[in-house]
This record gives sequence, structure tokens and C-alpha cells, in this order.
Amino acid sequence: MISESMRNTIRSTGLGALMKGAGLVTRFIPIPQPTLLVGPGSSGRLGQAIAGFGHRKILIVTDSIISKLGLLNDLTRALAAGGADFVVFDEITPDAPIPLIQKGIDFYQEHGCDAIVAFGGGSSMDASKAISVAVSNPKPLNQLAGYLKGLRAPVKIYAVPTTAGTGSEVTVAAVISDPVNHKKLVIVDPRMVPKMAALDPTLMTGLPPHITAATGIDALTHAIEAFVGNWKTPYSDGMALSAVGLIFENLRTAYTDGKNLEAREKMSLASTYAGFAFTRANVGYVHAIAHQFGGLYHTPHGLANAIMLPFVLKYSHPAIVDRLAQLAVAARVGSANEADDVLAQKFLDAVDQLNHDLGIPTSLAALKESDIPALAKAACWEAHTGYPVPRYMSQEVCETIIRKALPKNDAPVPAAVKRKKKAAKVDA
Ligand SMILES: NC(=O)c1ccc[n+]([C@@H]2O[C@H](COP(=O)([O-])OP(=O)(O)OC[C@H]3O[C@@H](n4cnc5c(N)ncnc54)[C@H](O)[C@@H]3O)[C@@H](O)[C@H]2O)c1
Ligand SMILES: [Fe+2]
Repeated sequence: MISESMRNTIRSTGLGALMKGAGLVTRFIPIPQPTLLVGPGSSGRLGQAIAGFGHRKILIVTDSIISKLGLLNDLTRALAAGGADFVVFDEITPDAPIPLIQKGIDFYQEHGCDAIVAFGGGSSMDASKAISVAVSNPKPLNQLAGYLKGLRAPVKIYAVPTTAGTGSEVTVAAVISDPVNHKKLVIVDPRMVPKMAALDPTLMTGLPPHITAATGIDALTHAIEAFVGNWKTPYSDGMALSAVGLIFENLRTAYTDGKNLEAREKMSLASTYAGFAFTRANVGYVHAIAHQFGGLYHTPHGLANAIMLPFVLKYSHPAIVDRLAQLAVAARVGSANEADDVLAQKFLDAVDQLNHDLGIPTSLAALKESDIPALAKAACWEAHTGYPVPRYMSQEVCETIIRKALPKNDAPVPAAVKRKKKAAKVDA
């Protein structure tokens, strides 16, 4: 009879081989890249450019906070000055749910639009991408989730990120929420990559510190997961290492001094580079688990990643010592002449320290012990059907790792501690 551990070894070997094979294929898939406009005022320059493209009517998709803060002004002024017709749909909420995206699709059609400007954080950009696929391929949104489910090309998108985190302005993915099944769905289509994107740091100076922190660690997680996974290429490695260097150099400043334009601009670049890296090399268990937290508890995506990143990295450590060592050098927390195992440990410590300095909690307040088996099952399914993870996790191991994020008062009390407590009560 085959034991459970043998079964896991077989699964791990089979999955590893399958993912390596898939990686050999995916590395040749062409992925378009947007023309990037970078620096203060670039959202206005993007507006000038788009106005010259002769669109009939442009839909700007954003959220109400961004719209109230006046962040659209440079773009809309430039569009109006260039004679371009546009309408604004500013109802996007974090992790936009399917019915809201349907509202955006109806809005696009009612106004006879033919292009979209995705303006905001990942939620607005991903809602825009979903709208762009759905208006070309009229079928229910949950049927568009997965790889290349729309036959016809999505409508043209331009992007203006207002957080430095998701990298969605350059990625092939759109994450949306299915509120009925409490799941996040991912639409993947290289044709959704925006044609142009503006990285304008002036739009980010009012981003609250906790969102700066969480979104910054989202970008860091993209870079790390792309760098340690099995689909890495020289290109994705270069992008990932640049992103990690920029994040360790600038995220603390962006967090404590939000108006610092240089730090904001460098964080935008880091987020975009990390987007380039993971759109080629994909992500791993941190994202697989974070998506389950987002679906069930509506945990902000960056925060969910930030909490899980240290736990998953420590588990993956034995399989990726040399990669962690290179990350330590890129983050400038060690020097290349040190031993790999010393550098790897320094990088793990540096991630813990960064989280601590950014006020990231070490546990997830909403997490419940009773939810963990289902969360782990769904995370493993997501990871094992698409992510080239460096060290396999069985569902049981994944449960143990998620359990590390339990709020301290909900953490299962180890039997030995329970016995001691009981004895103490009796003594009293
Ligand atoms: N497509 C991809 O490749 C990809 C990658 C990672 C994450 N995602 C998805 O992106 C979503 C998360 O995006 P996000 O982390 O950017 O957050 P978000 O878009 O949900 O925004 C978070 C909050 O920040 C506010 N905000 C955004 N920009 C602001 C600014 N400049 N000033 C003040 N407030 C501002 C928003 O109004 C919102 O309340 C998740 O659904 C996640 O799954 C997508
Ligand atoms: Fe992410």
C-alpha cells in the first residue's frame, strides 16, 4: 500500500515535471508590453497622446475616492483639450465583484465607447480589463475566467496606476470577485495588456501609509515569487532583482514620507518591473493563499500577501537558498562574497524587518481555524493548476502554514501547553 507521504512525493515530482514542461512552452508565448510614460505629469501626457488616436468615445474606469481626490484632472483636461470625447464610470470598489463589472459593461455599451482608460489601483485596472474582454466576447464573466476564454480581442486599454503594487498596467491578468462563491477569479489574456501606461508619482502622494505598505509588499511578493519559481527566465530575473532593489531602497520612505516624489516614482517603477517579471514567470503559494483570504474575508490583496510572505518563504527556504542569497544582495542586506546560507537567512530576516517597519501584522484577524482546511484545499488547487512553485506543499502542509497566521487567541493550543494550563488550574 502507498503511504500518504509517498503519494505526496509522487505528486510533487509529477507536478514539478509538468510545470517545468509548461514553463518551456510558456517562455515562448509573446507578451505585449505597453509604451510607458514615466514621471510627474505623465497622466496628462498620456491624455494628450490618447486624444490623438481618434477614438469615438473613451470610458474612464476608476473608483469614487480617486475621482473625489481630483486625480483624474490632468488626464481629463488633456483629453478635452485634444478634442477627445470621454465618460467616467467611478463606481469600482476593491476587488470589484461581477455584478459591478456588469454595470461597467452596460455603461460602456450605453455610451457607445470604443476604448478604456483604466485609472486606479489594481481593482480599477482589473475591472477595466474584465470589461474590455467582456464587451468583445459577450458571455457571463465567470465563463471568461481562465486562460484565453474570449475568442475576440479585448478593446484597447490605456492604464494609469495610482498604487505601486499590482503591476496590472503591464500584466496579462485581471482578478475579479465572484461574490456568490466567495472566490477570486483570474482572467488571463495577453491581449488585455494596456497599449500605453503612465507612471505618475504625483497621483500617489495622498495614498494612505497602510495602503502604501500593503501594495508595496504586493509588488515585492510578485518579484520574489517570480524569482524563486521554476518559470524564471533571464529577463524575469533581471526585472525581479531590479524591483527588489528599488523596493528595499524606497518603500520605507514612501511609507513614512508619502509626498516624496522620488520614492513614489521609484516604487511605481518597481511595481511595473515586478509586473513584467511575474507576467512571464508567474507567482506561487503566497498568492494562492492570499486569493483565498481575499475571496472569503475580503482581506486587501497586498495585506494578505504581506502576512503570508514570510511563512511561505521560510517553508520554501531549503529549496531556494541560492535564490534567496541573490535576493539578499539585490536588497543590499548582504554582500556577494558571503556564503549563500548566510545571505539567504539575511534576506528572510530583512523581509520580517520590512514588514515590521511598515506596521504589517504577523497574523490575520479574520482567520478562523475552522476555515483553514477549505482555504488550504483551494490554495493548493490554485497553485497546483498553474504556479511553478519551488517547493511542493501538500494540503496538510499548507494548512500548517496558514495556521501560522491565526490571531494569537484563535491559534490551536498545543497539547503540552493545554496540559500545563490544566495543571496550573488544579494547583490554583
Ligand atoms: N492584474 C494583476 O496582475 C494583479 C496583480 C496583483 C493584484 N491584483 C488585484 O488588484 C486588486 C488590488 O489592487 P490594489 O492593491 O492596487 O488596491 P485597490 O485598487 O483595491 O485600492 C485600494 C484602496 O486604495 C484607494 N486608492 C487607490 N489609489 C489611491 C490614491 N492614489 N490615493 C488615495 N487612495 C487611493 C482605493 O480607492 C481603494 O480604496 C486585488 O483585487 C488584486 O487581486 C491584480
Ligand atoms: Fe499580487
